[in-house]
Amino acid sequence: MVTQLWLLSVVNLSQVNAHYTSGDVVYHTLPHFWTGVGFCPAGEITHKGISASLESPAVQMNLRQIAALPVGAVTHMRIHWLLELVQFLEYDPNGLPRYNFEKFDNFVDFLHDELNMSPVLEFMANPGDVFTANPERNSFLWEHFVKSTLKQQIARHGSARLTNWRYETWNEPDLLGYNKLNFTTRHYLEYVQAVRRGLSKAGYGSRRKVHQQPMYRALRGPAGLFKAPNRHPRCWQLLEMCNQDLVQCPIDILTYHRKGLTGTAEDILNGSLALLSQIYEDYPKLEELPVANDEADPIADWRLPHDFQADVRYGITLISTVMQHWHAKLANGPLAQLESISHDNAFLSYHPHEFTQRTLLAHFRMNETHPPHSQFIQKPVYAALGMLAKLGTRASDMELVNMDTKHSVQVLRSISGGVGGQGQYVATIFLSPEEAGPQFTVYHHKYTLNMSIANESAFITELLVPQSTDPYYVWQQSGSPAYPNASLREAMRRVQTPRLFKTGPIWQYNSELVVNSASIPLPWAMLLRVCSASWPKLKRPQQLAIGEVTKGEVFISWNEHPKSTQCLKSYEVWFKERNSMGAVTGTDWLLISEGWHLPYPSFQYAPGTNGSVNGFYKVRGVDVFNVTSPYSQIVEYLEL
Ligand SMILES: *[C@@H]1O[C@H](CO)[C@@H](O)[C@H](O)[C@H]1NC(C)=O
Ligand SMILES: *[C@@H]1O[C@H](CO)[C@@H](O)[C@H](O)[C@H]1NC(C)=O
Ligand SMILES: *[C@@H]1O[C@H](CO)[C@@H](O)[C@H](O)[C@H]1NC(C)=O
Ligand SMILES: *[C@@H]1O[C@H](CO)[C@@H](O)[C@H](O)[C@H]1NC(C)=O
Ligand SMILES: *[C@@H]1O[C@H](CO)[C@@H](O)[C@H](O)[C@H]1NC(C)=O
Ligand SMILES: *[C@@H]1O[C@H](CO)[C@@H](O)[C@H](O)[C@H]1NC(C)=O
Ligand SMILES: *[C@@H]1O[C@H](CO)[C@@H](O)[C@H](O)[C@H]1NC(C)=O
Ligand SMILES: *[C@@H]1O[C@H](CO)[C@@H](O)[C@H](O)[C@H]1NC(C)=O
Repeated sequence: MVTQLWLLSVVNLSQVNAHYTSGDVVYHTLPHFWTGVGFCPAGEITHKGISASLESPAVQMNLRQIAALPVGAVTHMRIHWLLELVQFLEYDPNGLPRYNFEKFDNFVDFLHDELNMSPVLEFMANPGDVFTANPERNSFLWEHFVKSTLKQQIARHGSARLTNWRYETWNEPDLLGYNKLNFTTRHYLEYVQAVRRGLSKAGYGSRRKVHQQPMYRALRGPAGLFKAPNRHPRCWQLLEMCNQDLVQCPIDILTYHRKGLTGTAEDILNGSLALLSQIYEDYPKLEELPVANDEADPIADWRLPHDFQADVRYGITLISTVMQHWHAKLANGPLAQLESISHDNAFLSYHPHEFTQRTLLAHFRMNETHPPHSQFIQKPVYAALGMLAKLGTRASDMELVNMDTKHSVQVLRSISGGVGGQGQYVATIFLSPEEAGPQFTVYHHKYTLNMSIANESAFITELLVPQSTDPYYVWQQSGSPAYPNASLREAMRRVQTPRLFKTGPIWQYNSELVVNSASIPLPWAMLLRVCSASWPKLKRPQQLAIGEVTKGEVFISWNEHPKSTQCLKSYEVWFKERNSMGAVTGTDWLLISEGWHLPYPSFQYAPGTNGSVNGFYKVRGVDVFNVTSPYSQIVEYLEL
């Protein structure tokens, strides 16, 4: 079935029989609280195993792809056992361990300098077995380890680099699979306090700045599942301890894990509400602490394949999870102190579950090339994270527009700029239900939005819909081959971004946008953006990077300027081949992204056997007014 175009038009207000309009809407400051992702590296939990896993080209390309989402889409990466990258060397004459931070430093550099992300540093590791070898000195050794690790980073780069880092205690300490040190409850509480002391003692900035205030670094914990108290005593005892004396409580942000049971956003939210209600009933003082659900996923166990995780449904569930948490936060109930949610979906999927595991990308391990290599296809959930990044700095509460008696469309409106600032920007996300009753009317499919932000403005709408933005569907239609060939990979990549639906100018102040979704297959998500002409213009793309995928194929990515990309329509990627003499002159620049909608800062180029990837690359953005940004710097790529 082919998706039909929506009827959509910009009309004068007086002509509209408005069903859904923007009346007096109250906007609240919207922290982008959903921008963390995480994963657990495959392999043995040793320095060697974790290093090999995190240094593997497949994992690094997976992370590069995630980093190639719109700016601000993913800001924090939570990686279990990251501190196993620290290598134990020896005990010094005083019995203090000496560590080699080289691999940890390299990875942090990669994360910072190339991916522009900050780590969530979980203090869970056992370098050289120091902790298990010295059970009676654990408190001291943890304090020392935490302090050494932070001081090392501060010494290398100054404390500014650590500004956005998050620090967390041992993941799910009540689970045998994670509790590798065999913490008893008492030892665990001592460990948390030791980590707190280590953080505090490392917390001073550069010595040179005498008047600098010591920097306080918040500690998150216990990253717990909080099942029955007798089964999960470590996490519950920590809360007990904190409730007795909040001032002495080692944690500043209460983190927990609540996933859905059946794969829905309501599930996740209900689990959180139930847990926090229980916690606040027993430990009322903790109501003061910010809370975060580190693993707010629709269903447990990332490995288990589920069809919904492959297609548009997971993307819509993730957006809905964000909207519902926003609603719950505004409702001032148990989630009033919500600080963030994180998605545990940065894993590397494996055969034969390329699309269906809980991941942002489909990973194809191409064993038939020499050497083998990895191909990645961005799933609709990846596109969904990119859409969320376009939300503004203030948002109204989630609104529901009824489709029929049982189903409604969720709407989240946001804005930026306006009062005193330069220009205005509106971003609204519409989210359909997964299904609707048979009796809904055309009337129930019309959303009319007041777009009056300025006399001169322009709008753009993009869609996530079944089939036409669904690489999994394209793959299945071709028989789900384990090694998709170049033409199938291109076909999948052509549908991996949100689809450009409609864009154009708005000339009149009192204009409204009418969206008719009657002929769109469910479920769908739509992002509408409206920009006033005085909104800051697109800046030039930065840090253009060309990475090898395999022979004759490259992954091209670049960085976006944070304040100017809200009104981006698409990117253009230009290439100039080196001629056979290696000379630059003589050939013309070629628009290699012709016909592609590229709202996100990456492009995979595979010209096929007749073409070459050797040559020069540059990119630029085009905004909704059809104005182009300056070109990025030109970067040369040469295959070995
Ligand atoms: C649309 O928004 C403008 C500007 O905020 C306002 O003046 C106008 O009354 C609104 N129209 C409707 C129908 O809400
Ligand atoms: C932890 O306990 C398990 C089971 O009791 C045991 O097999 C393991 O050796 C212990 N590990 C350490 C480091 O003491
Ligand atoms: C969530 O809780 C609400 C209120 O208790 C209930 O109406 C709803 O059915 C629950 N949803 C799920 C998916 O459990
Ligand atoms: C490719 O090889 C790896 C390692 O042997 C294996 O795990 C994987 O399943 C293979 N992939 C396919 C598609 O057969
Ligand atoms: C839009 O243009 C009309 C007519 O030129 C003018 O009266 C009105 O003040 C303008 N509004 C804004 C917000 O610039
Ligand atoms: C590529 O794979 C698709 C689907 O498996 C197939 O239909 C097509 O013929 C293949 N193309 C080439 C050039 O082999
Ligand atoms: C930009 O160009 C497209 C395609 O030519 C056109 O449909 C659109 O109306 C233009 N936008 C503006 C703001 O002029
Ligand atoms: C490559 O070039 C040859 C000869 O010009 C042509 O027959 C063939 O169709 C081309 N292949 C592709 C994939 O463009």
